[in-house]
Parts: sequence; C-alpha cells; structure tokens
Amino acid sequence: MTIDTTDMPFAVIIDDLATQGWSLLPGFASQTLTAELAQECRARVKNGALSPARVGRGAGQEIREAIRGDQIEWLEPGQSAPTNAYLQLIDGLRLALNQQLFLGLDSYESHFAFYPAGAFYKKHLDRFRDDDRRTVSVVLYLNEQWQDEFGGELRLYLPDGETRDVRPEAGSLVVFMSADMPHEVLPATRERLSLAGWFRRRGADTF
Ligand code: OGA
Ligand code: MN
Repeated sequence: MTIDTTDMPFAVIIDDLATQGWSLLPGFASQTLTAELAQECRARVKNGALSPARVGRGAGQEIREAIRGDQIEWLEPGQSAPTNAYLQLIDGLRLALNQQLFLGLDSYESHFAFYPAGAFYKKHLDRFRDDDRRTVSVVLYLNEQWQDEFGGELRLYLPDGETRDVRPEAGSLVVFMSADMPHEVLPATRERLSLAGWFRRRGADTF
C-alpha cells in the first residue's frame, strides 16, 4: 500500500531527519489529544502506576537517580482511546519513514515519563551497547504553556558540536536518530510530562 504523505507533517520530519538527523515539530498532536494524554499520564501517576525508570538493560538494570530521576509506565495497545489514537498517529509516521527513508522500522515501544520538579536525565544515547534495534527516538511533550524559566529542556548534542535546547511544550514532537544524538533532560522547576518512544529495527539475532 502506498500512503500519500504530502499533506501530513511527516514530510517535514522526514526531510529534517534526512538532512540533519533530528526534527522538532510544534503542534504535531492536536491540543485535544495532547490534553487527554496529559490527563491520562497524571491519573496514572496518581494511581501509583509509574515506577522509577531504570538504567541499563536486562538483569543489569538499576535505579540511579543521579543519572535519571523520571518515573515511567510503558504503553500497551488497547489501554485507552487517547493512547490508541497516539499509537495510530505514530504508526503513520513509522510507515512514512520506511517508505521515504527505507529505515525498515518494524516496531515501536514507548512510555509515559513523569519528571518531578528537580528531576533530570543526564547526557546519554538511546541505543544500548549490546542492542542496536532502537533506530529513531520520538518524544511528545504534554506540558501546556511551558515557560522558558521553568527549565526542563531537552538538550540535543548535534553532530557539528553545537547544542540545541527544546522546550517541552504540549503537542511538540521531537524526533532524532537514536545512534547519533547524545542528549539530556535538564532539571525543571515543575513537573514535566512526556511520552518517549523508539522505532526499532529487527535485531540481527531475530531473523
Ligand atoms: C529518554 C529521553 C527525553 C525527554 O527517555 O530517553 O531522553 O525530553 N527523554 O523526555
Ligand atoms: Mn533518551
């Protein structure tokens, strides 16, 4: 099936990814959807559904607040109307990326992330040393009327040595190549909500 992506914001993302390895698209998700996702994230926090995020992989995972202080809950299909709508939107992006950039992305994993005031995530790469399946990182922000003075920027370390700070404003989507883009989350003076996810390629051992 061929999908015409010319009238979708995907064209901008694809172009940016191809030319600079990252893209920022304000207003990617509608205000309604963003508000519903934020409400759901807050409800999950309130119900105690989120857990401290861990660092590392498999049996080596541990909680290390000196590296990252967010709390997360993984998304599953069928959990709610807003999360389903978001997963559908994201699958459109996955297909467009495959079609235009031949990335061979075959799955997506994502979690809600809640950073309490003062929490941060130190500079890191989203790709694990022993697992290169994560290919494209995607973060949707859920914070309405975020002010610059709140902090909490995503700082991207661009290949040319420059940095770029992204304000975590509701509806903004940031997309970058997981293998090439070190980044960090700066501490904020308030709670910071996001939906972080990764498009993955099939691993070499799963063919
Ligand atoms: C991550 C991450 C960035 C952000 O979860 O790996 O880097 O801005 N998140 O929330
Ligand atoms: Mn990351």
